[in-house]
Amino acid sequence: MKEVRGASTEPPIVEIRGVTKRFGAGRPAVDSVDLEIPRGELFALLGPSGCGKTTLLRMLAGFETPTAGEIRIDGADVAGVPPNRRPVNMVFQSYAVFPHMSVFDNVAYGLKVTGAPVAERRERVREALGLVRLDGLEARKPDQLSGGQRQRVALARALVKRPRVLLLDEPLSALDAKLREAMRLELVNLRIAVGITFVFVTHDQDEALSMADRIAVMEHGRVRQVADPAALYEYPSCRFVADFIGKVNLFEASASAGRDREGRLVLEVPGLGALPVPHPEPVQQGEIGLAVRPEKLRLGESRPDAEIVFEATVEDFAYYGSETRLFLVTEGGVRLSATVPNTDRGPVRIERGARRFVSWAPADTLVLTE
Ligand SMILES: Nc1ncnc2c1ncn2[C@@H]1O[C@H](COP(=O)(O)OP(=O)(O)OP(=O)(O)O)[C@@H](O)[C@H]1O
Ligand SMILES: [Mg+2]
Repeated sequence: MKEVRGASTEPPIVEIRGVTKRFGAGRPAVDSVDLEIPRGELFALLGPSGCGKTTLLRMLAGFETPTAGEIRIDGADVAGVPPNRRPVNMVFQSYAVFPHMSVFDNVAYGLKVTGAPVAERRERVREALGLVRLDGLEARKPDQLSGGQRQRVALARALVKRPRVLLLDEPLSALDAKLREAMRLELVNLRIAVGITFVFVTHDQDEALSMADRIAVMEHGRVRQVADPAALYEYPSCRFVADFIGKVNLFEASASAGRDREGRLVLEVPGLGALPVPHPEPVQQGEIGLAVRPEKLRLGESRPDAEIVFEATVEDFAYYGSETRLFLVTEGGVRLSATVPNTDRGPVRIERGARRFVSWAPADTLVLTE
């Protein structure tokens, strides 16, 4: 469960205004980004490879200088402030720990550099190792640790400096699938325990959806949408976000058909005909994207009493244990994918060539104007 925080009058801990980064000619790596991150949030930057996630994070950390725009951290403009003077710390994409140093020395390193007294160093290292549950492993070398433990050393190294914002670049990407999932929860709990703001980068949508309070989806250096996970999944603002987050059936419709008696938009989709969609906002004439998530589709052997229903043939299916994915083609030649949860242990009763009625609720149809 996500924590519920009251509305705060405090300024956001991170404010990014019109930030652009160009490395040379051509498309900027980060393009006119505006973001506000409130204190204590677990904020995710999500997007495909090369969309500018790391570059944006490096600008927050002070390793890159914006070509244009302003970054404020904890109310202060950080232009010209070097990385070690910023109230942030970064855990890098390929987490760096010193292989020849013990766990203790790895974590103490950053404090040693700043000249903290020995007793204070020892206390803070102990505290940081406790937070990541590595107590008792101080004397080990990194090659005597598991991948997950090494990752926690990298986290402790960043936390020991007590940053106000922790920046994490793909913190779990080096771990195998099982460990990754366990570490997701650990990171969320760690964030709650330390109470500071986490900004983390990922290209893994499941990771962002399951961990973040809010997510910014990036494409070609731009932020396409910022929302909490459920809003992003159920109400994507554009085709790119709908397609990038989760799976989706996406159709192109023409918006010339107007509205029905209930005021719903009626959209004409080639091969599917006229579909009613509740969508009170006015739309421009022309091409409109229509989308429906595979798990919203209902499958039946007899015709259901539904407004949106098609007869379709199962072309293919794939068994995933918890669910089965079906690939269908309607009589009008439109391809649809549906997921069906395997709620009982019986054999999956589906075969290629089977006929099914596919239906979904008009309210489950997404209208995408961008
Ligand atoms: N130092 C640099 N010099 C020139 N181009 C760079 C530099 N750093 C990044 N870029 C370019 O900027 C763009 C964004 O890169 P960035 O590393 O921010 O992407 P990313 O979203 O983190 O990708 P990934 O998921 O693969 O890590 C890419 O086109 C990249 O090639
Ligand atoms: Mg990156």
